[in-house]
Amino acid sequence: MIWIIAVATILTACALLYWLFITTEGLYLGRRMVVWLYDITASRYEGIKKYVVEDEELLVVEPILGYVQGDNALVVDVATGTGRVPRFLLDDSRFDGRVIGVDASRGMLRRAQLLLQPHGDRVLLVHGFAEALPLPSAICSVLSCLETLEFIPDESTALHEMVRVLKPGGTLLITRRCDREARLFFGRFRTPQQFEAFLVQHGLEYPVTHPWQSNYDLVIANKPVVR
Ligand SMILES: C[S@@+](CC[C@H](N)C(=O)[O-])C[C@H]1O[C@@H](n2cnc3c(N)ncnc32)[C@H](O)[C@@H]1O
Repeated sequence: MIWIIAVATILTACALLYWLFITTEGLYLGRRMVVWLYDITASRYEGIKKYVVEDEELLVVEPILGYVQGDNALVVDVATGTGRVPRFLLDDSRFDGRVIGVDASRGMLRRAQLLLQPHGDRVLLVHGFAEALPLPSAICSVLSCLETLEFIPDESTALHEMVRVLKPGGTLLITRRCDREARLFFGRFRTPQQFEAFLVQHGLEYPVTHPWQSNYDLVIANKPVVR
């Protein structure tokens, strides 16, 4: 009997640790833990993600290009990681603008810096938290935040900051976690309708949810033009 209890206790502890550190990536232990986990995995991140150029053109470049306004446009990418958005966007000859990538993990930013070297001063990488973006208000016509919101403890403050940095009339492209694991983010899971309502509560309009990757939807919304 005792060994059954011991095995059950060990299995429960392992499941709890897996949920805390792998499934939810330290979210319930605070943002420092989330960022530290990215710091220590930064050198392996690209190997884990295995980006395919053709896929990224469809998933990242095409949706963003659809909203870039005018020449020399500025795109801000919040939680840029190893620079996925700036890299694939700047690699595309149709984009002649600049990108600012912000991330809280210095390890991820160091990798991004290396990978983005060929793009020179068309990209600026900035260390900072999504909840207090180190950027002026209303500077960009497109702001992206991919595969990250679910790992930010204070997602409301982060979204408020993204809306602040967008110009009136600008477009937000943000992902909603939608796989089975999304429901393990207790107290934070939102259906597409709830996620769109969450964006509207933060001052955005016309949110539309698009199927994107197997584990994420891409949700696109506008910041109203000031009248
Ligand atoms: C799953 S990666 C996504 C990176 C990139 N957007 C992509 O699609 O490849 C999540 C990124 O969010 C960053 N991050 C996590 N919490 C953050 C926060 N509060 N503020 C800014 N960056 C954060 C991590 O350092 C990590 O680089």
